[in-house]
Amino acid sequence: MRKHVLVLYYSQTGQLTDIVNSFLQPFYEQEVSVEVVRVKPLKDFPFPWTSASFFDAMPETVLGHPIPLQEFEFKRERYDLVVLAYQPWFLSLSLPINALVRLSKVQAVLKDTPVVTLIGSRNMWISSQEKLKALLHTAGAKLVGNIALVDRNPNLISVVTILYWMLTGKKDKYLGLFPKPGVSDEDIAQTRIFGQTTLEILFTEKWDGLQQQLVQQGAAAVQYNLMFIEERAPRLFSLWARFIVKRQNRKAWLVVFKYYLLFALFIVAPIVLTLNTLFLRIFFLKKAAAKMKYYQGL
Ligand SMILES: Cc1cc2nc3c(=O)[nH]c(=O)nc-3n(C[C@H](O)[C@H](O)[C@H](O)COP(=O)(O)O)c2cc1C
Repeated sequence: MRKHVLVLYYSQTGQLTDIVNSFLQPFYEQEVSVEVVRVKPLKDFPFPWTSASFFDAMPETVLGHPIPLQEFEFKRERYDLVVLAYQPWFLSLSLPINALVRLSKVQAVLKDTPVVTLIGSRNMWISSQEKLKALLHTAGAKLVGNIALVDRNPNLISVVTILYWMLTGKKDKYLGLFPKPGVSDEDIAQTRIFGQTTLEILFTEKWDGLQQQLVQQGAAAVQYNLMFIEERAPRLFSLWARFIVKRQNRKAWLVVFKYYLLFALFIVAPIVLTLNTLFLRIFFLKKAAAKMKYYQGL
């Protein structure tokens, strides 16, 4: 019987569009019906962002407030697989994806349906995936696979290059010196392999084995230092978000948050990570390995 796949995604710069297309390549070469829905906010976010608009998205993103989306319809009531492709914003689900997953018609197609999540991030996707897992669970979906693509450059380099990209709209080498921002072209092309693995399982429906195969292919690598940051930062973001939404002089506080974030990333995190590596990490090797395995899983 012909298989029906629904792909839901949002992309601002087009990076996730390229990732989705690469993932779907093997599907198009087979007799599979693929329905792709690219969701759009009713009022789209500016690209390139201004510094003010970029940080202004933080509180509602972190608090998970839904935003209105443009209308869209599904052709079917049921699918054999839903691919949900998304990007993290401020360690949470991007605003359009958060809104999408909360729609009742989306929850209806997700119910009792295998779901593969496909992430195009800078490098921090663990916390957003935890939030998504909870929403998928509420919808009664069956998460069967997760693929997370990242910018493989060192964390602080990728902070500089992503800000350059987001604030100028240029996905090129900042000052001719820095690497290109975002997920590399090679990694985007390689996503085809994860698509092939998923496609093979779609025909057998032995979904239980999918994530293990994807992990073996390097689909969801977890880096210890990034995990360390992600296990702490969301609580602080949440405090900031709750504080800022109540303020009358929101703009001023968002500027304070911006400098706080840069200070935390460039000064505090490297010091804390170094101290942790020197004095603490050795005592928690087993626990850390178990956590990394957990995040690589479902
Ligand atoms: C407002 C904003 C916040 C972001 N926060 C994160 C983040 O917390 N973690 C991360 O890995 N990437 C983050 N990114 C990068 C995005 O996940 C994504 O890789 C990039 O925006 C390109 O996605 P696109 O396909 O929508 O163009 C952020 C991007 C934006 C615009």
